[in-house]
Amino acid sequence: MGSGPGDGTTQSKPAAKVSVLFDADRIAARVAALAKEIAGGVGGDFLVISILKGSFVFSADLIRAMHGEGMHPQIDFITLSSYGEATESSGHVEITRDVTDRIRGRTIMLVDDILESGRTLAFAKTMLLDRAAGEVKVCVFLDKPNKRKVAIEADFVGFECPDEFVVGYGLDYAHYYRELPYVGILESG
Ligand code: IMP
Ligand code: MG
Repeated sequence: MGSGPGDGTTQSKPAAKVSVLFDADRIAARVAALAKEIAGGVGGDFLVISILKGSFVFSADLIRAMHGEGMHPQIDFITLSSYGEATESSGHVEITRDVTDRIRGRTIMLVDDILESGRTLAFAKTMLLDRAAGEVKVCVFLDKPNKRKVAIEADFVGFECPDEFVVGYGLDYAHYYRELPYVGILESG
């Protein structure tokens, strides 16, 4: 979901039911396995760029799992806004807060919560390559492969996600639900 102006902070929490899709234990096991996959696929010195706000929970767990696999990434953050308040992508991506670390010549691991249309990650990857990043890998917690609007795939995927609107573990609806320790499908009513 987007952030910045019109970020919905004066709205009250929408009334809806959340049904669990991936519980906390299943997420923890998958994140540990993902760190092993990354250890086998990305070598040496690299910079993790966590795309805010949605990927902060996943990134925090992932980097600690990376530590368990002997990796020593540096971490930076970028805040991108793509959605506004709707549950459909607007197609427009903006940088609300940029990275501060050096990009030129570096191996970057872009980390996002979910890959849907692909617009957010395609924008971020192109921007980093334009800034002369050496190599850009992509890791997403969730992938909705049927929803792609632009050609981009992740190098590492936590779970394939059904074509439902999901919340929790960092993912929001109107800036709510990020605190849930599980991922659930947001049901209206
Ligand atoms: P994309 O640019 O369409 O690939 O969408 C990426 C962004 O849309 C993600 O980083 C999320 O912030 C948001 N998004 C897409 N699907 C969902 C969802 O099911 N729940 C919450 N946010 C979503
Ligand atoms: Mg997001």
